[in-house]
Amino acid sequence: MKLKKTIAVTELRALLENKIPVQILDVRPKEEREEWIIPGSIFVDVYDQLKSGEKDLFSEALIPKNTPVITVCAAGKTSLIAMEQLRKNGIEAYSLDGGMRAWTSAWNTATTVDRLGTTIMQIRRTGKGCLSYLLESKGEVIVIDASLDAAVYSTIANKKNWKIKYVIDTHIHADHFSRGKELAEISGASLYLPKQRAIAYPFNPIQDGTMLRFGDAVLEAIHTPGHTHESYSYSVNDESLFTGDTLFTEGVGRPDLKATKEIAKEKASLLYQSLKKIMSLKDTLNIYPGHTSNPVPFDELLISKKLQEIKHKVAVLQLNEDGFVASLLKKIPETPPNYEAIVQLNLKGEANGVDLIELEAGANRCAIS
Ligand SMILES: [Fe+2]
Repeated sequence: MKLKKTIAVTELRALLENKIPVQILDVRPKEEREEWIIPGSIFVDVYDQLKSGEKDLFSEALIPKNTPVITVCAAGKTSLIAMEQLRKNGIEAYSLDGGMRAWTSAWNTATTVDRLGTTIMQIRRTGKGCLSYLLESKGEVIVIDASLDAAVYSTIANKKNWKIKYVIDTHIHADHFSRGKELAEISGASLYLPKQRAIAYPFNPIQDGTMLRFGDAVLEAIHTPGHTHESYSYSVNDESLFTGDTLFTEGVGRPDLKATKEIAKEKASLLYQSLKKIMSLKDTLNIYPGHTSNPVPFDELLISKKLQEIKHKVAVLQLNEDGFVASLLKKIPETPPNYEAIVQLNLKGEANGVDLIELEAGANRCAIS
């Protein structure tokens, strides 16, 4: 039987999830590796040599002979050359189809149960850093910030015989196309979105104090503008707070997207007030952010911290309003690519004919720490 040459993102994802040993070999240029990696991958600095046709580049590399090797580059071409060379050395090797561009759709999960028995499943888009949540009580589910294929969420729910009752977003996203609308459609759930006039399709509006009940659990909306005007945080059972891009475990949201300096200042000030509101909640709240700035390992460990811990750790939270605003405006990170196009798609609610892998490529840059 002839071995296939490539492995799909879905296949590699499943191998990593099931803890099947593979060695991922990154052959991209070093600068690209500094942007984003596949957790657990090793780096061999051979990109230029591979491109220039040099042979036998891996005979000296320390690659385990008894574990299959997956070669990775940016788009899945140079990794094919690396795969062929490894096979010549007698190593079982495959090239990741579509490379790191395609890897942005890979995901893994981490799960916990709160004191009321509510399941909190964090679904992590490891190739990009977006975090979405599937919350379940007595078989009823709320999904927050669906950023992966709608089928990922509906399949998880169906397998467990759960019914998705509500689909909600924390805000209008600028780094990924929201799959919330599609998920609500395919699962027969009600779509709730922050109240605003920008979105062109029908939805149920969320306002400060809106409550959504699922099973024995209750989710309450808290308006926390700043990152965007329509940003909300969601408190569940007074025990967990889903903060979207307002508060992260290591930093706070960025207030600048689509804003002049004046508006960015105003939004930073709004963010300060919103964070003050969050800081006044109880210290034991578990904070679940909408993003992480690092690739998420397949370790099943939740990305979450107690509010108290974040208060101490994130230095800008100790500043007064003027200090906070000045500090944020100084540290605003590079604007993410394609954010305007992504916002437009989210306002329209459909992405037919759009290459989402291309559009959503690249790490998120939502946080300021
Ligand atoms: Fe955002």
